[in-house]
Amino acid sequence: MTETAFIRVLLYVWLGVAGATAVALLFISAPYGRHRRRGWGPELPARLGWLLMEAPAPLLYLSLFLASPRTVEPVNLVFCALWLLHYLYRAFIYPFLIRDRGKTMPVAVMGMAVLFNLVNAYTNSRWLNALGPPREAAWLSDPRFIVGCLLFLLGLLTHLRADARLRSLRRDGGTGYAIPRGGLFRWVSCPNYLGEIAQWSGWALLTWSLPGLVFAVWTAANLVPRALSHHRWYRDTFPDYPTNRRAVFPGIL
Ligand SMILES: NC(=O)c1ccc[n+]([C@@H]2O[C@H](COP(=O)([O-])OP(=O)(O)OC[C@H]3O[C@@H](n4cnc5c(N)ncnc54)[C@H](OP(=O)(O)O)[C@@H]3O)[C@@H](O)[C@H]2O)c1
Repeated sequence: MTETAFIRVLLYVWLGVAGATAVALLFISAPYGRHRRRGWGPELPARLGWLLMEAPAPLLYLSLFLASPRTVEPVNLVFCALWLLHYLYRAFIYPFLIRDRGKTMPVAVMGMAVLFNLVNAYTNSRWLNALGPPREAAWLSDPRFIVGCLLFLLGLLTHLRADARLRSLRRDGGTGYAIPRGGLFRWVSCPNYLGEIAQWSGWALLTWSLPGLVFAVWTAANLVPRALSHHRWYRDTFPDYPTNRRAVFPGIL
């Protein structure tokens, strides 16, 4: 089997796993953060967990890009820059900003996220930089690329701002929870997830590729059920939680 055929098969199987995961996550919330609970095996510091689980995504994407035949193509350079823009933040900055005072996460959660990141980085980097159709520089002025880029950057800005607003709730150095207010929190409980979903939907559009689409579907499969769990948790925990707020999509869900 050629590598191209292998990636196609992998992506269709991966898409099926995303669907099953979304259904499972509607009933069992991933056991980290506020949904952390006993019974998921050994644990490690959450900060280290974030670093270890996210670092494979930029490292693998970049290694495959540097070893590819398309390193000097402008479009591939832009793809790589956008990927790294997100993952340098998520893997190497975000873990050092979180205010968690020694909280832990199960090694199993970290392991599943490593697998997720390895598959995404491998399929996206190999497809875009070597196996998929080459993109001429004219792609940079294609409406799909332009709209996708805007969505990607808007999504990135949205989750950066939401992350910062959540951090500000722990200025006192504690690890408890408060009702987040202001910005997109006026309309949804999880604007960070909304931003992340927008960002990878933008990636699917700007790369116009099957690996990009599958990654966007996976992001929604992870984050929509988690947003519903967070939203339920907020409503159960805070009697004065704003009733007009939705979980993740303003006015819809
Ligand atoms: N692409 C994907 O499939 C994917 C999957 C998972 C996560 N992510 C991204 O990774 C990022 C982090 O995810 P997450 O699930 O950890 O997000 P989260 O539950 O919203 O938590 C983000 C941070 O804010 C803290 N926090 C949340 N709500 C708070 C509140 N009401 N009061 C005080 N502190 C609060 C959390 O503390 P605690 O940890 O102590 O709860 C954590 O440090 C998000 O931007 C998400 O989009 C992406």
